[in-house]
Amino acid sequence: MTADELLQQALAARDNAYAPYSHYAVGAALLCADGCIFTGSNVENASYGLTMCAERNAVFHAVAEGRRDFCAIAVCGAGDAPAYPCGACLQVMAEFAPEMAVYVGDDKGKLLTATTVQALLPTKFKLSQERE
Ligand code: THU
Repeated sequence: MTADELLQQALAARDNAYAPYSHYAVGAALLCADGCIFTGSNVENASYGLTMCAERNAVFHAVAEGRRDFCAIAVCGAGDAPAYPCGACLQVMAEFAPEMAVYVGDDKGKLLTATTVQALLPTKFKLSQERE
């Protein structure tokens, strides 16, 4: 599975975004070690704070199906500016796969940036008993 192929899956997931308030659609596609792909789109709510990002919907979807071994996530936002995952989504990704690749694309699925969760979130929150 190439970055471009995963970005195409993110783009398809973006079609399912529910974003009547921000009008900013996001799609994500998460690749697991066994080759499975779990997708997510942002889902907004009239009570704005209840909105859930595309990336976290993809991760929660996968975890709820028993997967935790993630290799890569592709994210497509709107326009030609890169839609980097927000801090909350990075913290959730770092819980399971800090080394995971992050492919950020435009709204045509073109790869804009290839990076990692670790690079975008160098220090994740940990409970005190887990600190070194
Ligand atoms: N959003 C995502 O889906 N992922 C992010 O990483 C940041 C933002 C969504 C949430 C909201 O529906 C819209 O983008 C505008 O903030």
